[in-house]
Amino acid sequence: MAVHGNKVSKRRKLIGLILQSNKSQMNSNLSSLKKFEPERENLLEEIIEGLSKPQKELPSKLFYDKKGSSLFDEICNLDEYYLTRTETSIMNDNIEDICSVLGMNSLLIELGSGSSKKIRLLLSGLQSPAGYVPIDISEEHLINSVNILARDYPDLRILPVSADYTQPFSLPKFDFIYSKKVVYYPGSTIGNFEPDYASEFLNSVGNRMGKGTGLLIGIDLKKDTKILEDAYNDKKGITAEFNLNILARLNSELDTDFNLDKWKHYAFYNSKHGRIEMHLKSLSDQDVHVNGDIIRFREEETILTEYSYKYSVDDFKNLISQSYNLEKVWTDVESKFGILYFTVK
Ligand code: AVI
Repeated sequence: MAVHGNKVSKRRKLIGLILQSNKSQMNSNLSSLKKFEPERENLLEEIIEGLSKPQKELPSKLFYDKKGSSLFDEICNLDEYYLTRTETSIMNDNIEDICSVLGMNSLLIELGSGSSKKIRLLLSGLQSPAGYVPIDISEEHLINSVNILARDYPDLRILPVSADYTQPFSLPKFDFIYSKKVVYYPGSTIGNFEPDYASEFLNSVGNRMGKGTGLLIGIDLKKDTKILEDAYNDKKGITAEFNLNILARLNSELDTDFNLDKWKHYAFYNSKHGRIEMHLKSLSDQDVHVNGDIIRFREEETILTEYSYKYSVDDFKNLISQSYNLEKVWTDVESKFGILYFTVK
C-alpha cells in the first residue's frame, strides 16, 4: 500500500516505469520493463522544511518502509481498527450488486494496489473484466503481487503501472475492447489527504480518465468520537509503534538522532476539521540533530505525522461534484464505512 504525505508535496515527481502484460505474456513482459529515469526527491530537504514550521510535521509517506508496512497490516487486523474489516464485509455482502453496477467487460484501474488482495473479490464477481491495471509506487510490491495474481487468474489481462499515482502518470495503451474504465480506490486512503487536495486530485483523475469512467471508492464515515479515537489508540500499542517507526526510520536512513524514549504517540479526533490527527509528542525539552542542523523541541510540543479525514456521504459527494455524479452507496448497518460509486460527468 502506498500512501502519501498529509500535505502532498508538489515537489514529488513521477516515477518510474510502466510494466505491461497481457493474458499470455505475464512473466515475459515483467522482464522487459519500460523504464523512465526517476528524479530523486530531496527527502532531507522536505524533512527539514517540515520540522521548521510552527506546527512541526513529517510526511506520512515515511510510515511505509518494510517494518511500517507490516505494522500497518497488523493495524488492519486490530479489534479497534474497524475500517478494513467493515469495508471487506460491505464488499462481501453486496458483491453481486456492486458487480452489476460496474457491468460487464469493464477495465479496472486500482490506485495504490499494494498486494492486490482487495481486487480479488471484484475479479471473482465480475463477468469477464476486460483487464486490471494495478498502480503502485513500490515496484517490488507490484511485481510480486502481479505474479501471484497472474497465477491465480491466468485469463486476466494485467497491465501494471509503477507510479506515484498522485502525480501525472502514463497509462498503457489499451489495444482491446472494454465497456468503461472503473477506478478502484479502497481503504479510505483518500482520507489521508486534505479535502482541497483530495478534491483536486480526484477531479483531475476523472478528467484524465474521461466521461463515463466509474469511481468505486471507500470512505470512512463520521461517527462517535470514542470509536474513532480507539481505532487510532489501540490497546496493543501497534499504532503507536507505527507512528514512532517514522523516527526510527529517519535515524537509520538519514543523519538524525531522535531518542525514541523521549517521544510518545498522540492521536485524537479534531471535530472542527472532521479528522483524526496523529502526532508524536516530545516528553521533554530536547534538541535533535538533523544533518548537522539542530531542531529544538519543547516539552509537550508535537510533530504532526498524519491526518485521517472522516466524511458524511453528502460531504464527500459535494467534495467531488465538479466532475462526478454519485450513483450508488453501500454501507454497513452502523454506517461506519461507505463504499461509493460515482461516474465522471
Ligand atoms: C491508510 N490509511 C487509510 C490509514 C488511516 O486510517 O488513515 C492509515 C493509518 N494510520 C493509523 N492507522 C491507520
